[in-house]
Amino acid sequence: MKLKIEKVVFGGDGLALDQGQVIFVPFTIENEVVSAEITSRHKKFSRARVLEVIKKSSERRTPPCPYFGICGGCQLQHMSYEEQVRVKEAQLKELFPIVLPIVKAPKTLYYRKKISPCHEQGLLGFKGIDNCTFVPIDRCLLFSDKLLKEIPHFKEEGPFLIDSLSIEVSSKAFCQNFPEQSLNLYHYIKSLVAKENPVIITDLYCGVGITSLLNAPLAEKVFGIELSNEAIRLAKRNALKNGIENVFFKAQKAENAVISGDLVLINPPRTGADTRVLQNILHSKARTIIYTSCNPSTLQRDIKRLEGFTLDSCKPFDMFPQTSHVEVVTVLRR
Ligand SMILES: C[S@@+](CC[C@H](N)C(=O)[O-])C[C@H]1O[C@@H](n2cnc3c(N)ncnc32)[C@H](O)[C@@H]1O
Repeated sequence: MKLKIEKVVFGGDGLALDQGQVIFVPFTIENEVVSAEITSRHKKFSRARVLEVIKKSSERRTPPCPYFGICGGCQLQHMSYEEQVRVKEAQLKELFPIVLPIVKAPKTLYYRKKISPCHEQGLLGFKGIDNCTFVPIDRCLLFSDKLLKEIPHFKEEGPFLIDSLSIEVSSKAFCQNFPEQSLNLYHYIKSLVAKENPVIITDLYCGVGITSLLNAPLAEKVFGIELSNEAIRLAKRNALKNGIENVFFKAQKAENAVISGDLVLINPPRTGADTRVLQNILHSKARTIIYTSCNPSTLQRDIKRLEGFTLDSCKPFDMFPQTSHVEVVTVLRR
C-alpha cells in the first residue's frame, strides 16, 4: 500500500492515514510517501513496515550506526539532526500551549555516560525494536566508537563539576546520562529559581543532590527528598565536601514527604509523580513548581492533576539525540 506520512509522533514512528485508519510506520519522515505493508492490526490502529521510500524527504540521511532499525535504542537516526529537534518541538507544541525553543545537544554521538547492554550466550547486545528480542551488538555509537567488550560501560570521569561545585556521582545512583547537556539543563533551572526569590525549596526526587546544592545559595533552606539510599549517601557527602550547610537530605518516598516552603523542584522518573505527591503539593504553601520531566505524556497528565497551578513556560532540552526522547523543564504558578 502507498502511504503519506503526516507527522512523526512521540515514540518516533511516522503516522499515516488510510481511509481514516491510523497506521504507524517506523523510520519515516514527515511528508514522505512510502510503499508499506501492514505488520499488525489493532482495534484503533495498525503498524506497517516500509518496503520502499517513494518520495524521499530532503532531511533523510544514512544512519551512522549499522544496527539502526534492528536495535531498539534509537528511533531517529534516519533524519538529519535539525529534523530530529524540529520534530521534538512540534510534538511538544501539540501538548503544551507555550513551548520555548529547544536547547540542541552540543554533540549528537558518543554522548552517553552509561549504557546497560544485556548478555546472552556470552554475547553483548541490546533489546531489538520489538523491545523483546536480543540483538547482539558490538558497539553503541551513542556511547563510544570502541568495542563494547573492550571498555567499561560507565565512563568514570571523576567528579561532575558545575559552577564551583564538585559533585560525586556513581553508577549505582541516578545521574543524567549526558554530562555536557545536563550542565545547560541545571543552569537553566538555576536561572528560573533565581527569578522566584524563594525562602524554602523542596527538591523532590533529588538524586545525588545536584539541584538542591546548586540552588542552595538562592534560598534559606533546601530539603532534598529521594528514595535511593545510595543517592542520599552521595548527596550528603556532596553537601559536606562543598561546605553547604543549608541543605537537608532525607532518604524517603516522595509520596511521604512533607512539602515545605514556597518553591518545589520536582523531577520524577518516566512514570511521573504519584497522585499523593501532587496532592501534597496542592495542600502545601508552594507558589511555584519547577517540574523537570523526561516523559511529556506523564508530565501533561500531572500538570492537569495540579489543579490551580497554570503552566507558565515549557523549555525542551535534547538530552537524547538519535532517540525519540526529550527532557522538558516547566514552570507552574498559582
Ligand atoms: C529523573 S531522576 C532525578 C534525579 C535528580 N533530580 C537529578 O537531576 O540528578 C529520578 C529520581 O527519583 C528517584 N525516585 C524514584 N521513585 C521515587 C519515589 N517514589 N520517591 C522519591 N524518589 C524516587 C530515583 O531514585 C531517581 O534518583
